[in-house]
Parts: sequence; structure tokens; C-alpha cells
Amino acid sequence: MSEPVQTPQTNAAFRPRIFSGIQPSGGLTLGNYLGALKRFVEKQDEGIETIYCLVDMHAITVWQDPDKLRQQTREGAAAFIAAGIDPARSILFNQSQVTAHAELGWIFNCVARMGWMSRMTQFKDKAGKNSENVSLGLFAYPALMAADILAYHATMVPVGEDQKQHLELTRDIAIKFNNDFGVDFFPVVKPIIEGAATRVMSLRDGTKKMSKSDPSDQSRINLTDDADTISKKIRKAKTDPEPLPDTLEGLKDRPEARNLVNIYAALAGHSAEQVIADFAGAQFGTFKPALADLAVAKLEPITTEMNRLMKDPAEIDRILGEGADRAEAIARPIVDQVYDIVGMIRSRRR
Ligand code: AMP
Ligand code: TRP
Repeated sequence: MSEPVQTPQTNAAFRPRIFSGIQPSGGLTLGNYLGALKRFVEKQDEGIETIYCLVDMHAITVWQDPDKLRQQTREGAAAFIAAGIDPARSILFNQSQVTAHAELGWIFNCVARMGWMSRMTQFKDKAGKNSENVSLGLFAYPALMAADILAYHATMVPVGEDQKQHLELTRDIAIKFNNDFGVDFFPVVKPIIEGAATRVMSLRDGTKKMSKSDPSDQSRINLTDDADTISKKIRKAKTDPEPLPDTLEGLKDRPEARNLVNIYAALAGHSAEQVIADFAGAQFGTFKPALADLAVAKLEPITTEMNRLMKDPAEIDRILGEGADRAEAIARPIVDQVYDIVGMIRSRRR
């Protein structure tokens, strides 16, 4: 970005560690599942050290009803576990229980430049014409996100396509901090944006991202939807009158058709090319029921398990608390070193 950045950093000194987060600002969608959760599980199962966080402090950058926030945080945790995150192998917690995030977030507010933040497209989209009246936190949000990641010296961050710019900002903050203080303290983070569904689109408009905040419930599949609702939403999804083409090229100007093909591919664990090869020439009257069956087969077990876990909120809170203790053990010494680098006196006897 605009500040001159010099020394290219190497990550040789940092062990591979994954961090990612999801906001508990509503129910999770198929977009969160395919773009994030499903891939979080894959990374855990590859044996990499994985830290996953329900970022409740990010959620309150827009208004959240306190009771709903608690409920959505537990539901988010249940979704992680139901999707295959094992709290014994991964660290799973909610952000506000580990104060290192807020502390490093403040320091990064003093490293990041106004110009960098003003270029964040997600802020511009979320603030829209209302930019005088949104919270200051919404503007600072990406600096807190950088703190989430860098408080753990995480080296890799799996996310959907929409987070790419925030991860570039995270790199800029790490590099500027290292340069300003003449240290090689923070790693330069690698985004992991991969798979057939890095950007799942709305079922009502193939040019808009599927989002938990879309006013139309028909636009998304929620992880809490039952089989019948999932089938109905897919059958009613907007499409065009043409049959499926026989090459990927043929989907170029057909955003709705391309979205359904990508969703099928990601759910089946195939490439989009493979799906096109299997369904070349098929009408939506054939393709949509096949997609609905596949979606139900993959999502129903997750929904059932989520519902079971949600019956014991105390157990979810216990898991989050234990995850937070383990997270704190990693982040505390890192953030303590940051205070030292920055020149703050730490003389309390703890
Ligand atoms: P959020 O719900 O904004 O906290 O997003 C949590 C994670 O899900 C991030 O990695 C996002 O990039 C990812 N994500 C959210 N919506 C979508 C979508 N429609 N398609 C793909 N990934 C998504
Ligand atoms: N900003 C992310 C989103 O809206 C959520 C998030 C917060 C995150 N902190 C993070 C993602 C750290 C990855 C790493 O989707």
C-alpha cells in the first residue's frame, strides 16, 4: 500500500500455524461452510496446528442484541464441532475471552494508516452512504483482524475470497511494525483461498455474495435449515432457461448457473470441470434435484449434530473456556514481547 515497505521478511523462523475466525453475527450459511468451515476441518486433519475463533468483538462493530450474540456464539461453536472440528486437536474459543486480541488491536490501530483503512472495500460496502454514522470499530475492524492472527504468530489463514484484501492489510501491518521497530517479530501471513467455492453467491442474484445479513432468507442456505427447506431453496434458486453447457467457458456469462455448479463441486469434493463433464446438456429440472439431494446428504448430519450440541450450552461454554485458556498461553507471551518492543514499562508483580 502507500507506505514504503523495505525488507522482505522470511517466515523461516516461524512454525506453521493456522488461524481463522468467523463472526457470530447471525446463523452460519452454506458460504461460511464451503468457503471456511469445511476447509478448517481439512487443515486440522492434515495435522497442522489450528486455532479457530468466534470473533465476537468483530461482531459488535454492528449492533448485536446481547442475548442473540450469546446464542449465535454458541451456535457457531456447535457448527464448528458438528462440521468436524475436534476441540482436543484444534483450539476453539471466542475472541473476547483472550484479551491479547484487544490489546494488540490497539497497537495496530497505531501502526495502520488512515489511507490504508479507507481503501478497504468491505468497509465501503458495509458503510455505504451511511459512513458518518457507522461505528468507529467498523472502520478499525481490519486492524483487530490482523491482531487476531499475529497474536499467535500464525503463518497461514484459510478464508473465503472476500477476506483477501484484509489479509493483504495484515501483511502490511506486520511489515510496517517490523520495519518501524527494526525487528523481525511478526511473520508475513499467507492467505489460503482455495477450492471450488471461495465465493458462494446468493441464490436470488448470482452477482451478490451469499451472506448471513441478506434480508432475504431465500438467498441463502443456513446451517440450521432442515432438509425440506434446503430442497425448496435450491429448487427455487434463480437460474436461466439454458441447459448446462459442456465446457466451463460456457458458464462465463451465467453467474447463477456457475454458482450452482461451484456449490455442487465443493459439496461433492470434485472440480467444477468434473461436474460439467457429468451434467453437460442437463436441464435445471434435472440438475437442481441432484444438487438438492447432495446438499441435504452433506448438510443434514451437521444440522442434526448442531441441534444435539445446542441442548447443552454449558458444555459448549466449557469447551470455549478451555480453548481460551490454551489460546491465552500462546498469545500472552507474544503480546508481552510487543509491549516491550514498543517501549512500555511492565513492572507489575503478577
Ligand atoms: P463471516 O461470516 O463474514 O465472518 O465470514 C467467515 C468466513 O466465511 C470468512 O473466511 C469468509 O471469507 C467466509 N465466507 C463468508 N461468506 C462466504 C461466501 N458467500 N462464500 C465463500 N466464503 C464465505
Ligand atoms: N473478517 C473476517 C470475516 O468477516 C472474520 C475474521 C476476524 C477473521 N478475524 C479473523 C478471519 C482472522 C480470519 C482471520 O469473515
